[in-house]
Amino acid sequence: MLNTMLIREDFPILKREINGRPLIYFDNAATTHKPTQVIEAISRFYREFNANVHRGMHTLSQEASTLYEESFSVVAKFINAYSWEEVIEVKNTTDGLNLAAWGWGLYNLSRGDEIIITVMDHHSSMLPWRIVAERTGAVIRYVDIAEDGDINYTQLEEMLSSRTRVVAITMASNVLGTIVDVKRICRVAHSVGAIVVGDGAQYVPHVPTDVRDLGIDLIAFSGHKMLGPTGIGILWGRRDVLEEMKPFRVGGDTVKDVTLDSIEWHDLPWKFIAGTPHIAGMIGLAEAAKYLMGIGMDNVRQHDIELTKYTLDRFKELENEIFVLGPLDPRKRTGIVSFNVQGLHHHTVAKALDSFGIAVRSGGHCAHPLHYRLGFKGSVRASYYIYNTVDEVETFISSLKFIIALRDMLSKQTIEDRCTGT
Ligand SMILES: Cc1ncc(COP(=O)(O)O)c(C=O)c1O
Repeated sequence: MLNTMLIREDFPILKREINGRPLIYFDNAATTHKPTQVIEAISRFYREFNANVHRGMHTLSQEASTLYEESFSVVAKFINAYSWEEVIEVKNTTDGLNLAAWGWGLYNLSRGDEIIITVMDHHSSMLPWRIVAERTGAVIRYVDIAEDGDINYTQLEEMLSSRTRVVAITMASNVLGTIVDVKRICRVAHSVGAIVVGDGAQYVPHVPTDVRDLGIDLIAFSGHKMLGPTGIGILWGRRDVLEEMKPFRVGGDTVKDVTLDSIEWHDLPWKFIAGTPHIAGMIGLAEAAKYLMGIGMDNVRQHDIELTKYTLDRFKELENEIFVLGPLDPRKRTGIVSFNVQGLHHHTVAKALDSFGIAVRSGGHCAHPLHYRLGFKGSVRASYYIYNTVDEVETFISSLKFIIALRDMLSKQTIEDRCTGT
């Protein structure tokens, strides 16, 4: 069990009021808040250690390099990687998945090869492979979702053949919350010689992640969705897969030596980290990983299940009013509950919830094909993390009931759509 009240003390932003009410932050799938420990670690770096890394013989640069390099080991421990050298610093999940597609796909795919992706995928997982397929002549094949909100494993298994080179999956859906059976997919994909690339954006921050046990080849995730800063993410890879890859961005620090007609690439992970890295970002991410390890990822997972179960149970009272997306069993999902209210636009619901101080996301959540498949243009998404409480869910449900009671009036309002993200 998490001591949520104690945890909340670490998050200064939770003291804010929004529209005269205490902030209830249910937009954690978009980004999480940062504990004082992370804010302090970043600030301390700039106050006491700021220097560029791997570029100076002076003490400050040596100290900064040590701090920076230690961060890779902390992240490796967080996901049980074999070595810190398998941990590639990227900007975010999107950047990591682009590196996977361009760095592996461009050099290993050819005409007629097949890439399997799923209808459930986030655009960041789907689009890099679609573009690399255009470049290489590879063919994209889509796996559908099943009735229970999981992917259709039977269809995936039937699709696999000796032509399959890549299976790219969203490990946990940012809309349905579905936790995909990654081990099962790795087993079958490897049996035909394909690699499995995981979009771990919603998985790694919520589900205890052991890359050795999963048997996966590459996983990308974002620091900002796991209490860390923005602008930093990780592409973890199995060493042999990373060694098959070429860097996607090149320049300073990616090489050991360069002559006018030869390039000797640096060792892992440096060959992929071009230019001055996000030093403070890596330090902040490591602090966030330490914070989560201190709480215990099993407890994080259990807390998600509790809040999701409570929400789904209470939603039963609104059965004829709302349509809930994703699996009914809370153990099959992360702390994400997306829904639509009959007769109200998703943005109208989100805006109305905001007037109660409740932050949710509304829209297509960068998963347009999934929404079209489900027959919606978008949805409202409540997403939880370690500092959310049952009391907050209670306020959310009662606010939702109030909004539904005002449906006729609200449905006539025009909502100015200020979201540039989709
Ligand atoms: C499943 C999934 N994949 C990828 C991303 C992209 O993450 P980022 O914007 O940090 O690159 C997100 C962000 O919401 C996501 O939920």
